[in-house]
Amino acid sequence: MVLEKCNGLSEGEVTRFSQFQGPEVEGLSKNAKKKLNKKLRRAQTKISYLEIRRELRKKKRKITTLKRREALQKGEPVKKKNVIKRMADSMSTQRIVIDLNYENFMSEKERMSLAKQLEFCYSSNRYSAQPFQLYFTSTVDIIVSERFVQTIPYWRSWDVFWKNENFMHLFKSEDLVYLTGDSPNILIDLDPKSVYIIGGLVDHNRHKGLTLRRAESCGIRHACLPIAEHLKLSSSKVLTVDQVFKILVEFQNCNDWLGALLAVVPSRKLLRLNSGDHPTVETEKLA
Ligand SMILES: C[S@@+](CC[C@H](N)C(=O)[O-])C[C@H]1O[C@@H](n2cnc3c(N)ncnc32)[C@H](O)[C@@H]1O
Repeated sequence: MVLEKCNGLSEGEVTRFSQFQGPEVEGLSKNAKKKLNKKLRRAQTKISYLEIRRELRKKKRKITTLKRREALQKGEPVKKKNVIKRMADSMSTQRIVIDLNYENFMSEKERMSLAKQLEFCYSSNRYSAQPFQLYFTSTVDIIVSERFVQTIPYWRSWDVFWKNENFMHLFKSEDLVYLTGDSPNILIDLDPKSVYIIGGLVDHNRHKGLTLRRAESCGIRHACLPIAEHLKLSSSKVLTVDQVFKILVEFQNCNDWLGALLAVVPSRKLLRLNSGDHPTVETEKLA
């Protein structure tokens, strides 16, 4: 079976080229061979990534089917697929904040993009088995903005806590943890008592360290997702707002960072899996 084309090479081509036999590589210059080698390594990584992701999804489906079958046999009520739950009905008390206090740091296009990302976050939460208690804070600017209303006309009906106030006025500062790709602290677990904040910012990392500085100036804890512990990325480990949110949703469901990261991080960002040979990192347990 031919897998999806990876970096321009199919699975068959990868296998064929990796044996380095036959006329395909004969007559190639040293440089061309080097390039082919590099392409090959990336393609192999991508294929193993796709295979692992497929395996994890298969496993997840199997577990769900088994659970449904078991429940049916016991005569217990079986949960329908894609049940949309409201936050009030969720068993999760975990609070997640999206800090929308960055309007002045974004271009018009980036603000539009943020509105779309907030929609993705909302949708991930709605379809989660146990939705988070989701807060949008410092919403004063964003909800009066015409562009936001245009992008998401039905935002008023969203099952989200819309708060004009800054997060510092809503929660105890000792409970707050700002998530930021620039933090030297690694998030190990989700602590139900803590409130995790995601910066509502689309800036293509133009404002490097902005959220870290905000956390420091507020005197609250900060942490980054344990990406380097599990994956080696081809580009920056700074992810988008909706990707970070979705990783938290996945982690809450499976309690496994690798599974959560693989379910969300786009394969084009991935160079290799680090599982098994984790780099040593100073970790600070934030849970
Ligand atoms: C596009 S990033 C914004 C990058 C921005 N330059 C900054 O200073 O954070 C959007 C938000 O996602 C969260 N985020 C992105 N990558 C992360 C990572 N690796 N670990 C933890 N949080 C991350 C942060 O809350 C960040 O503010």
